[in-house]
Amino acid sequence: MPHKPFKAVIPAAGLGTRFLPATKAMPKEMLPVVDKPAIQYVVEEATQAGIGDILIIIGRNKNALSNHFDSVPELETNLERKGDHAKLAKVQQSSDLADIHFVRQGEPKGLGHAVLRARSHVGDHPFAVLLGDDLIDERDPLLTTMLAEHDRTGAAIIALMEVDPDHIHLYGAAAVEATESVDVVKVTGLVEKPSAEDAPSNYAVIGRYVLSPAVFDVLERTEPGKGGEIQLTDALQELAADPEGPGVYGVVFRGRRYDTGDRVDYIKAIVQLAADRDDLGPELRPWLKDFAATL
Ligand code: G1P
Repeated sequence: MPHKPFKAVIPAAGLGTRFLPATKAMPKEMLPVVDKPAIQYVVEEATQAGIGDILIIIGRNKNALSNHFDSVPELETNLERKGDHAKLAKVQQSSDLADIHFVRQGEPKGLGHAVLRARSHVGDHPFAVLLGDDLIDERDPLLTTMLAEHDRTGAAIIALMEVDPDHIHLYGAAAVEATESVDVVKVTGLVEKPSAEDAPSNYAVIGRYVLSPAVFDVLERTEPGKGGEIQLTDALQELAADPEGPGVYGVVFRGRRYDTGDRVDYIKAIVQLAADRDDLGPELRPWLKDFAATL
């Protein structure tokens, strides 16, 4: 069956206060993870899953983000003159990736509010939401599986990962039931950032969603929840609880995920990704071993 024309929405309007002062004049999505801004990994993930239309929800400091996906003629001419084709390809890669659009969130009123800002661009299409704090290793496809699952069921599809129960308070948590597939669960309830005692399970929502436009009507009436913000998790809980609708399913991810949401995890992500790369790994790995021995 041919794919419906999925679009992707990438919320990037957070204040990034955990990374101050680096994020004082620059969005956190532009922080480099090795040598690429975090947002480029996420855009590449969407394009690798066949999505060519991407809407980035921006807040303040939007210029760096939009500039990154534009061409830079003077830099390109300069590299061309020098015959530095490898660097030229790196510069051009981010401007050739996809058809990228921007919309402003205005006030940071939460993830649900940011997603609602995508309504007029997304229109009547199913769409994917990708959060920039979660990077999914390109060797472990997740989004493609989620898009196929949405095609098959028409349901809202979320990505779930089992986490240490001590960490569930950092995530949306899902109550789940098994299905015939080991990689897919039916989501019967969702709670945003519950305490370990109140969590329905240790299945954490990681930042990938495939949704139908029906979610916008729900978001319109979703009241502020956890942290006084309009939560996407609360809208999905309503969809999960609706006996008339197609419901919510979770694709259980067991692959490599890098969290860039806080400083220690961000540093770990950079070290893991760099150590794995063919150009940097051979020099970095033995140094890391020696360094670890001094700790
Ligand atoms: C958001 C969602 C949360 C989800 C998390 C995944 O929270 O609200 O349900 O588990 O992303 O990264 P945030 O981390 O943006 O506060």
